[in-house]
Amino acid sequence: MRAYVLKHYGGPDGAQLIDVPVPTPGPRDVRVDVRAAGLNPVDFKFRQGKLRAILRPTLPLVLGNELAGDVVAIGSDVKRFRIGDTVFARVAKDRAGAFAEQACVDEDDAARIPRGLDFATAAAVPLAGLTALQALRDELGVEPGQKVLISGGAGGVGTFAIQIAKWLGAHVTTTASARGEALVRALGCDAVIDYTAQDLSKVDDRFDAGLDLVGGDTLAQMVDVMKPGSRIVSVAALPEPQTAIKDLGGSRVLAALFWIISYGIRSRARRAGIGYRFLFMHSSGRDLGLLGDLIEQGKLRVIVDKTYPFAQIAEALAYVESGRAKGKVVVAMH
Ligand SMILES: NC(=O)c1ccc[n+]([C@@H]2O[C@H](COP(=O)([O-])OP(=O)(O)OC[C@H]3O[C@@H](n4cnc5c(N)ncnc54)[C@H](OP(=O)(O)O)[C@@H]3O)[C@@H](O)[C@H]2O)c1
Repeated sequence: MRAYVLKHYGGPDGAQLIDVPVPTPGPRDVRVDVRAAGLNPVDFKFRQGKLRAILRPTLPLVLGNELAGDVVAIGSDVKRFRIGDTVFARVAKDRAGAFAEQACVDEDDAARIPRGLDFATAAAVPLAGLTALQALRDELGVEPGQKVLISGGAGGVGTFAIQIAKWLGAHVTTTASARGEALVRALGCDAVIDYTAQDLSKVDDRFDAGLDLVGGDTLAQMVDVMKPGSRIVSVAALPEPQTAIKDLGGSRVLAALFWIISYGIRSRARRAGIGYRFLFMHSSGRDLGLLGDLIEQGKLRVIVDKTYPFAQIAEALAYVESGRAKGKVVVAMH
C-alpha cells in the first residue's frame, strides 16, 4: 500500500510517499481502508523533530494522526465495530499511521461517522475537534454567560473552538486577520480582534476564560486582558509540569524540564492572578461520538479549506506549514 513515511527528521525531503506492507491489527484494533486523512501542524512539527522530547518512535514511521474510512478487518477483542462500518478517529499520538491507504486504530479511539458526512469532511474533525472540546469543556470548564477569548479562531482548531464555546453558552471573542474575519463571524463569533491592526493587550474587555491557539507574544498579551482568578489554556505555547503529569504519563523528568521552560509564562500568569495550563489533547472515541452527534444535529459545522489528492500530500503539508489555512486541510485517498 502507499504511505507517507518519515525517514529522517528535518525538512520536507525527510518524508516520502512509498510502498509499505499493510499493517496487521492487534486484538483491540480495527483496520481501516483510509478514504481521507486530516492534516495538522503536529504533522510538520513531528517531521521537524520538534516533538522528540515527548515522542520517540523508531523511524521509518508512517505519519498522520487522523483519518476516516471503512473498517475492513477487526482484532479478536473488538466489540464496538464490525467490518463495513464507516469510522473516523484520532490515532493515538505514539502510533500515527493515518497517511496511508490502510491504518490500524484502537477501537476506543474511533467513532462512527455521522450520517450524511462525506469522508473528507469527517477526516477533518478528530484532532482539532477533540482539542477544542477537551480544552473548553474539561480544562476551562466554560459555563453559560462567560466571556471566552480564543486566539487564532480562523484555523483548524479555532473554527471548532468558536462553535463549541458558543454551544457551551459563552460570549466568544477571537483574534483573526481580515482574511479570516468573515469566516469566524459566520461561525457565531460575537467579537473579532484584528491581530494585524490592534494590540490584544490594549482591548478594554476582560475575559473569564482564554484558549490560546497561537502562543508567543499573543499568549503574553492574553494574560493582560484576563479577569483575576481566570485561566488560560494553551495548546500552542510551552508545556508546564501539569502537561507531563496529566497528559504524558507522569514523567518526573519531563515535569522538571517543562517547569523550567514554562517559568516565564507561569510567572507572568501568577503576577496577573490567573492560572496557566498547557494541554496535550488525547484520543477519545467517546468524545468523538459527541462531536459526531453535534454535527448530525446541525450544531457544529466542519470547515475544510482545501482537499488534495493523496499523491499531493507534500503540497498539502506545505500549505498547513504556511500557517494560513482557514479551517482544515485534508488528503483524499480514493
Ligand atoms: N497541544 C495539542 O494537543 C494541540 C492540538 C491541536 C493543535 N495544536 C497546536 O495549536 C496550534 C493551532 O493549530 P491549528 O490546527 O488551528 O493551526 P492552523 O489551522 O494552521 O492555524 C492557521 C490559522 O491561524 C491564524 N493565525 C496565524 N497567526 C495568527 C495570529 N498571530 N493571531 C491570530 N491568528 C493567527 C491564521 O489566520 P491568518 O491567515 O488570518 O493569519 C490561520 O487561519 C498549532 O500550534 C498546533 O500545533 C496543539
